[in-house]
Amino acid sequence: MSVIIAPSILSADFADFGREIQAVEAQGADWVHVDVMDGHFVPNLTFGPPLVKAIRRHIHTVMDVHLMIAPVDPYIDAFAEAGADYLTAHVEAGPHIHRTLQAIRAAGCKPGVALNPGTPASAVAEVLGLVDLVCVMTVNPGFGGQSYIDMTAKVAELRRLIGDRPVLIEIDGGMTPATAPAIVRAGADVLVAGSAVFKGGSVDNPAPYGANIRAIRDAVAG
Ligand code: DX5
Ligand code: ZN
Repeated sequence: MSVIIAPSILSADFADFGREIQAVEAQGADWVHVDVMDGHFVPNLTFGPPLVKAIRRHIHTVMDVHLMIAPVDPYIDAFAEAGADYLTAHVEAGPHIHRTLQAIRAAGCKPGVALNPGTPASAVAEVLGLVDLVCVMTVNPGFGGQSYIDMTAKVAELRRLIGDRPVLIEIDGGMTPATAPAIVRAGADVLVAGSAVFKGGSVDNPAPYGANIRAIRDAVAG
């Protein structure tokens, strides 16, 4: 399987999400990654279910919603109703990740579990049977454009723990043509990239989005 590229709209023009999504999908994005931050679990605020619902109709690929919020459970139904395909919660967000992941599945979404850089792979070992995706953070969550933190060993360990279960490993933070190849060799399936995809382009000049996506694809293929 070739790698899935999921541009994060955290690096897009917040006043123009509809056209930004259209542009980045036309330029080769496989998924659209949507970063929800609450100013509590992470030191930044983005948006909530109404915005996610409003952009849903512009996404023709896959809407990958990354919840950086605590608590998670009171908002699961709202994000499911907003149309999330994948709905990812952090293992650090509360004491009952098992229940949270069950609730996400029951709401009709594909559950994902995310790990901060300081959290070991073993923290999700007991819930790997409940998820479709594990998101390995390669920055401390909260902001786009941060420097990559190497998590190659954690990804290799997760690959071993996952075994032959159909669980995707997603990498989020600091992905560039320089940082992507080693982590893909370790077993990553999905690469989230915000600043590395949106840099140099705009809705009126979207070609750089395509060139940036191709640069990551070529780097991991070569
Ligand atoms: C960080 C977010 C990421 C972010 C990645 O908290 O979860 O999805 O947008 O941005 P870059 O690719 O710029 O590191
Ligand atoms: Zn994210």
